[in-house]
Amino acid sequence: MYQEIFKKYEPTKDNLIYILHDIQDNHPQQYITEEAVLSVSKYLNVPINHIYGVITFYGMFSMKARGKNIIRLCESPPCYLKGCDNIYRKLKEELNIKQNETTEDGLFTLELCACLGVCGNAPVMMINNDIYGDLTEEKVVKIIKDIKGEK
Ligand code: FES
Repeated sequence: MYQEIFKKYEPTKDNLIYILHDIQDNHPQQYITEEAVLSVSKYLNVPINHIYGVITFYGMFSMKARGKNIIRLCESPPCYLKGCDNIYRKLKEELNIKQNETTEDGLFTLELCACLGVCGNAPVMMINNDIYGDLTEEKVVKIIKDIKGEK
């Protein structure tokens, strides 16, 4: 099942993170299954516990099914000082979910993350690969509505 992905990488431990990214990006619910961990362990000849360790260490990996749009709100100090906690509260209210949960319709997953590298536009969030900066509560509501296709 993962052969197409494995073909792209030499079976060395150095490729572990790249392979995990590839597997996660290619899963429709953007996560890494236990079955995938087993396959990677065999392919790279790396202990399963090591792979779980890597997955839990890096916030961008998930072993839980996620929504079509993954919202990652930065909670590092510059964003915090610019009020990311208000944005977080608004997102939870708007989506009716808590941290690391997915909306019932499978459209959104809400996560917190460390600095996204665009602190000059704090507070900042990322939705899939798109960055949204200078966030306000109103702006966040509009972004969510736009993605949902509501006017
Ligand atoms: S601290 Fe939030 S983007 Fe850098």
